[in-house]
Amino acid sequence: MTFAGRDLVSITDFTNEEIEAVLDLANQMDSALKKGMEIELCKGKDMATLFYEPSTRTRGSFERAMHKLGGTVISFAEAKVMSSAAKGETIADTVRVLRSYADIIVIRHPWDGAAKVAADYADVPVINAGDGSHEHPTQTLCDLYTLKKEKGRLKGLTVLLWGDLKYGRTVHSLIYALARFGAEVLCAPLQGLDVPGPVLRRIHSEYNYMPERVKPDDMTSMIGEVDAFYIAPFKPYNLALWSDFDSSPCPEISIREALRKADAIYVTRVQTERGDRPADTESDGGYPTVDSKFLSQLKKKTLVMHPLPRTNELAYELDDYPTSVYFQQAAYGVPIRMALTALLLGASNIETPERTGVSLSDTAYDNYKQVIGVKCPNANCVSNRESHYLVPKLNMLKRNGGESLILRCVYCDHEMHPPYIASSEWHQGILKNKKYYSSDSFMLDRIRPENLIIFDSAKEAQAHGFMPSKRTVKQRNGGDAT
Ligand code: NCD
Repeated sequence: MTFAGRDLVSITDFTNEEIEAVLDLANQMDSALKKGMEIELCKGKDMATLFYEPSTRTRGSFERAMHKLGGTVISFAEAKVMSSAAKGETIADTVRVLRSYADIIVIRHPWDGAAKVAADYADVPVINAGDGSHEHPTQTLCDLYTLKKEKGRLKGLTVLLWGDLKYGRTVHSLIYALARFGAEVLCAPLQGLDVPGPVLRRIHSEYNYMPERVKPDDMTSMIGEVDAFYIAPFKPYNLALWSDFDSSPCPEISIREALRKADAIYVTRVQTERGDRPADTESDGGYPTVDSKFLSQLKKKTLVMHPLPRTNELAYELDDYPTSVYFQQAAYGVPIRMALTALLLGASNIETPERTGVSLSDTAYDNYKQVIGVKCPNANCVSNRESHYLVPKLNMLKRNGGESLILRCVYCDHEMHPPYIASSEWHQGILKNKKYYSSDSFMLDRIRPENLIIFDSAKEAQAHGFMPSKRTVKQRNGGDAT
């Protein structure tokens, strides 16, 4: 499959072969850059960088990459205030305008799913440079490139993800890629900042993989025992930082085992700008610092990685360690983004095998199309932020032979388990026939996907003139489930 004209919104848009192709081309670009060769593959082409959030590495390396390819850049470094977004212009309109000035658009936005909207509306390639806490696929390309350079492979490597695994978008893209490449993923999240359920479910259902999670009790005792972390004295409650893992389906691993196994530790900062974090993770003071004492617990050759910027979770004393590769990760941004840009613009061509199999192996049997009914539950999803022109797009997933209905937002990947369903057809205009049913009833299989209406609540169903079926009433009163 060719890369020309495609978008990169999620790392899962590329197959493993395609990712390998980008990394190989980046390697060639890197050598050419080091030899001081002129590359100029994109002469006459223009890139627009549309950044609604701060950035140093990502925007800097995209722009440097385009310059090194001989192209030009139209830069909106503060798109939130300096583009017409400040006057209320939508993402869809902004990119439809920009596409007539640029051959490729790179977008960073605080809303989950914003890059998908840009890709849907701009008929030039769109690259996601980070959308809310959703994904950051080009950072993952840099991370994979670094791992391959340093360790020579991805398959079989053990990577320990550390910190804010809930809102850290780099981690979400990385976890998909590592699981797919056959690496082992270990998670050490801060309390309340665990890998989101839909990400876990997706890697489980699509790649048949489940990461291991460090035991919270181990972490607590570890803190006391080895004095490995700096705990801010004004935050004593942070000793409980590693508890509250109960809700996750991940198998547990001891911290010693995790540290012993890790080929790389991927440290992340707390994403203080995002979401509804618990108050005790609000400040940097609540974060154990990875420092030289901590490093002594790891294998000698364990890489220390970080997407940067760091706050106080990674000690400066590690900067000169041979295994600290975080500045290298950032430096690789230039050849990686050169390779990606050249490929999407069709200036370089690598044919890779066609994608095989379905991407959603949980029978994604249709997109939910009704205008009424459920919406994405994520308030930060672009479909809720720009709802005046975006219709919610939800993939219907039926699991395990269909006993429960799960919807996944096409923009932000959030999932929901709506309680009620109805048909837009059967009542034939007769009000008393307008019935709604429990979403786990056999009616789910009876109603054709194109007629299916899904409701968040009984109140919503009733507001649209639907009455509960007899079975639904019985169920709601504590009787047998249908
Ligand atoms: C990351 C981001 O923006 O998500 N930065 C980056 O692009 N390297 C990580 C972060 O901000 O913590």
